[in-house]
Amino acid sequence: MAREVIFQLNNVSYRYPGGEDALSDVSLTVFRGEKVVLLGANGCGKSTLLKILDGLQFPQEGTVYAFGKLLSEENLGCEEFAFAFRRRVGFVFQNSDAQLFNSSVWEEIAFGPVQMGLEPEEVNRRVEEVIALLGLGHIKDRPPYKLSGGEKKKVAIASVLSINPEVLLLDEPTGGLDPRTTRWLINLIRQLNQAGKTLVTSTHDLDIVSEIADKVLVFSEDHRLVAAGPPEEILNNRALLLQVNLVDDQFHYHLHSNGHRHYHAHG
Ligand SMILES: Nc1ncnc2c1ncn2[C@@H]1O[C@H](COP(=O)(O)OP(=O)(O)OP(=O)(O)O)[C@@H](O)[C@H]1O
Ligand SMILES: [Mg+2]
Repeated sequence: MAREVIFQLNNVSYRYPGGEDALSDVSLTVFRGEKVVLLGANGCGKSTLLKILDGLQFPQEGTVYAFGKLLSEENLGCEEFAFAFRRRVGFVFQNSDAQLFNSSVWEEIAFGPVQMGLEPEEVNRRVEEVIALLGLGHIKDRPPYKLSGGEKKKVAIASVLSINPEVLLLDEPTGGLDPRTTRWLINLIRQLNQAGKTLVTSTHDLDIVSEIADKVLVFSEDHRLVAAGPPEEILNNRALLLQVNLVDDQFHYHLHSNGHRHYHAHG
C-alpha cells in the first residue's frame, strides 16, 4: 500500500516583506508516521518552513499541500477548513513566550480543547491526562509567564498535546533545555511517534538527530534543501556538514563505547 502523504511542497520560495529569500525552491514530502528533522544553521529557514507547514505564512512561489488539499490563504480563510486543519496539526514555537498567553498553566492546556468545542468533562479529562503525562501537576495553577524556560517549553508542548493532533511541528524543542529535560523530550518524541504521530522537528543539534529522525532534510545557508537521507548517512557526510555550517574543522565524529555517536570539538 502506498504511504499516505501528509505534506507535499513543490518548488516553494518564501521571502519576508522587504527581505531576502528565507526559502529557495524547496520541494519535499512528509509521509504519515515519519520522524523528519529539518537540519541547518541559524537563519537557513527552518522556522520559516515550519510556519509554512502550519499555514501561518504563505509562499510567494510554489505550492503547499497538506492532507491532499492546497494549504492556501484562501482555503484557510474558510472556517471549516481551518478548524479541521488546526485539529490535525500542532505547532510548538521556538520561543515559548510567543505561544503562552493564558493566566494559568491549566487554562493554557485547556485552551485548545475548549476552542474545539469539547464538553467540559472531556476538556477536564484531556487536561488532567496531559498534566499527568508531562508531570506538570505542581505548577498547574501558576501563570505561564512566571515559569522557567524549560517549564514554559513543557507547558507549550502540553498545550499542543491536549488537542491530540496527528502531526506535531516542533521548532528547536530542546533549545535551552538541561540534559535531563532534553533526554525526557527525546523520549517523549519517540513515544509520540510510536503512538502513530507524524513529527517534523527543527534543530541544529547534531547529537540528537539520530534519535528523533528517520529522515533528515539538510538546508544550506542560502536557504536551499541540499540533502535528504537517513540520519547515519547525513551525519557521516562531513563535507556536507562543513558546507552548511553545522560543523567546523575542529569537530570530529566519534563512536562512543556505549554505542552512541557524537560530534566533538578538539582543541
Ligand atoms: N519576521 C522576519 N522578517 C524579516 N526577515 C525574517 C523574519 N524572520 C526570519 N527572517 C529571515 O529569514 C531567514 C530565515 O529565518 P528563519 O527564522 O526561518 O531561520 P532558522 O533556520 O529558523 O534560524 P535559527 O536556527 O536561528 O532559528 C533569515 O535570513 C532571517 O533573517
Ligand atoms: Mg528558527
